[in-house]
Amino acid sequence: MNDIVSSNLVLRVGIITVSDRSSAGLRPDASGPALEGLITTRGWKVVRRLTVPDEVTAIKKALIHWTGSGDLDVILTTGGTGFSPRDVTPEATQAVIERAAPGLAEAMRQASLRITPHAMLSRSVAGIRGRTLIVNLPGSPKAAAENLDVIMPVLPHAVQLLREDPRSEAGHQPR
Ligand code: MTE
Repeated sequence: MNDIVSSNLVLRVGIITVSDRSSAGLRPDASGPALEGLITTRGWKVVRRLTVPDEVTAIKKALIHWTGSGDLDVILTTGGTGFSPRDVTPEATQAVIERAAPGLAEAMRQASLRITPHAMLSRSVAGIRGRTLIVNLPGSPKAAAENLDVIMPVLPHAVQLLREDPRSEAGHQPR
């Protein structure tokens, strides 16, 4: 399928850990390294990593800077998608995306519901700014990895489409 067609595509990925405690040095960032491990196992590259506090301004600033850099296909955020008053990653993401990509968040929630009903509490959003896809993942290493696992198979084709790669046609079923 798409996976086979796109298997030689090396995705350039940025990971932003959104956490007050990790950004203050009070708790080691476990989710960023866990996601990086999954990405590199796939043969893709983690080009940038950053930890920011749960602040809309800081998250937006990082997303705007990184999407303008031209060196990233995908930005994964981890953390700040829940219901606590400090959970504002979806709001910051919503403020910077130009086109929504709701199918990714829908698929992650649907698959995660088979693991835990708490999946309903993730307010993750996904969308496109320029030629970069931004996807919110939950904060715990386990939840972040489980959610990334769901969307990984479609990321190469998503990136081909964003790059207007002629090979992207091969990922479509004949009509
Ligand atoms: N999704 C999966 N696959 N596995 C999980 O353990 N945890 C949920 C949910 N999604 C979870 C999950 C929980 S407990 C919450 S509160 C929300 O993600 C939001 O997490 P966040 O606030 O760390 O972003």
